[in-house]
Amino acid sequence: MTLPNRILHHPVLGSLSNRQQITFTYNGGSYQAYQGETIASALLASEQRILRYHEESGTPRGFYCNIGHCFECRVSVNGQDGIRACLTLVTEGMVIQSGQKLPNPLKAGESS
Ligand code: FES
Repeated sequence: MTLPNRILHHPVLGSLSNRQQITFTYNGGSYQAYQGETIASALLASEQRILRYHEESGTPRGFYCNIGHCFECRVSVNGQDGIRACLTLVTEGMVIQSGQKLPNPLKAGESS
């Protein structure tokens, strides 16, 4: 499958054609990545731009700095929360979940 956001031939990094393809899941859907890709780049290539929802406001968030500084790209990986998608390489069978809005303890019993 060819994805529109993926660079297949890079003048410095070379071609992706000799890299192993990896399957992972994101929010229950199945996606393909290439060995050596970060979670953020694999999801962007798959047109998944929302990595989490703000814990309090629920607004969608994507990656921002892409170098590990801003923590906007936090996802859950194999049950472990707070993993930065821009720094973490995808591995075969990895289960990734986006972060979700948290319930407001001051509004217990109300729908948000
Ligand atoms: S995008 Fe900033 S830490 Fe990942």
